[in-house]
Amino acid sequence: MKNKTMPEKLQLVIFGGTGDLSRTKLIPGLYKLYKRDSLPEQLSVLGLARSFSSLEAYLQSLADSLQQENPEIYDQQSWDEFKSYLDYMEMDFTEDTGYNKLYKYLNNQEDNQAGQHCIYYLATSPDFFPIITNKLKEHRLSKSKEAGWPRLVIEKPFGYSLESARKFNFQICKVFPEENVYRIDHYLGKEMIQNILIMRFANMFFEPIWNKHYIDNIQIVSTEKKGIKNRGKYYDKAGALRDMVQSHLLQMLALVTMESPADMSTESIRQEKIKLLKTLAQSPSLVNIKKNLVIGQYKSGTIDKKSVPGYQEEKNISSNSMTETFAAVKLKINNLRWGGVPIYLKTGKRLKEKNVKIFVQFKADFHPGLNQDKAPEANLLIIKIQPEEGVSLQFNAKEPGSQDRITPVLMDFCQQAPDLQNTPEAYEELLVALFKGEQSLFTHWESVQHSWLYIDILRNYIEANRLEPEKYTPGSNGPVSAQELLTRDGRRWWDEEEFDAST
Ligand code: BG6
Repeated sequence: MKNKTMPEKLQLVIFGGTGDLSRTKLIPGLYKLYKRDSLPEQLSVLGLARSFSSLEAYLQSLADSLQQENPEIYDQQSWDEFKSYLDYMEMDFTEDTGYNKLYKYLNNQEDNQAGQHCIYYLATSPDFFPIITNKLKEHRLSKSKEAGWPRLVIEKPFGYSLESARKFNFQICKVFPEENVYRIDHYLGKEMIQNILIMRFANMFFEPIWNKHYIDNIQIVSTEKKGIKNRGKYYDKAGALRDMVQSHLLQMLALVTMESPADMSTESIRQEKIKLLKTLAQSPSLVNIKKNLVIGQYKSGTIDKKSVPGYQEEKNISSNSMTETFAAVKLKINNLRWGGVPIYLKTGKRLKEKNVKIFVQFKADFHPGLNQDKAPEANLLIIKIQPEEGVSLQFNAKEPGSQDRITPVLMDFCQQAPDLQNTPEAYEELLVALFKGEQSLFTHWESVQHSWLYIDILRNYIEANRLEPEKYTPGSNGPVSAQELLTRDGRRWWDEEEFDAST
């Protein structure tokens, strides 16, 4: 999957070089890569923004943010070395003068031409994306003699519906071909998410049982303790289905349930993911959305003994907002491998804890001669993505000291695998993949399109039926109906259970 090499010389141009994303993710990611000696030999990073008039002021503000946000990684000496990679240009993204200056700047780089080995990273509000791409074209900055360059990186949200995403994609693709576009879904940079395909296809014992005959249900969960922070303007238009399910949860779903690819090339993996996402709009569970969808919104309350405002009291949110901060969905994949297996997705803010995990519950069966009062627990595979990383497997064993009592035990690979410790953060992985041109960690337009199709069906139902989000208490497990979604099927949410790794 990862066999491409990094070019020696590379120009990274960050539109929005002083924004939140640059400060909290991109610059820290690049800095950590520098400390790991993993940057291209001749890298030049140009930050573009309007906030500062000098390079010194820009560098100082980045150093301040780094010390505040990531004090554990900052040290003066390496920062002083690293900052020689950074440059700054004051620019208004809507005006031609800035692009003229940029053209000159890129052509003046030693034996370089504008667009060659150049990556434009749009770390701005999405409203700027079409403006910037068009201006890059008008100013002859979007073409290079070498195929695959220049690259364009876009952060989510990629539209608010299928229609807006299509429009948006059309505008971008008029300027940059699909192979040069890198759509970020930062979950694909997470170590354990990258591990899903390896686990599935490098272990003989999984593939033969990875289907409806052996798997009872799958749960994909990404819960958060934090609220919407200061992102009210964006979040109120989005909500949990668009913000988390359309992107991160459906990408995880595709990796867990896609068919085996023809080979491990980016193209083959992408094709399988697309095929899987394409089946979602035919999910039998869409026939009765009312029964299979729960949306919620957090009230005011306390978390860690601190009082927190309700969603409707957050900054930039209207006091009667109906935006969902929680969503749980039950879906079924309409294909031969998965027909009938329920898949439960859950995400929400201001919940009990931060937890990103995938649970694969196998069917429970046991020898009738194992005379037990209670049926043994089902085998369970847990892929732990965040905050801990690793894999656990629950299986049944003899209770020590007893004659024939059966007890579930947990085999936890996380603690025994030193290589899984201190794993690089998602953005470091994504930056390296971007430099190398590894498209497999980025989402293809077709994936985005099919994910929107599914989310639009849910959203249209919510709007047509004026479905109101159910209120839930901060620090809880979410709305009561989310419990019923599983208990009704005789199941439970595994992320809400305590597992004792020592058993
Ligand atoms: C982002 C969403 O894509 O992912 C945020 O816009 C969310 O609302 C974040 O908080 C969660 O990411 P992570 O890596 O902390 O699980």
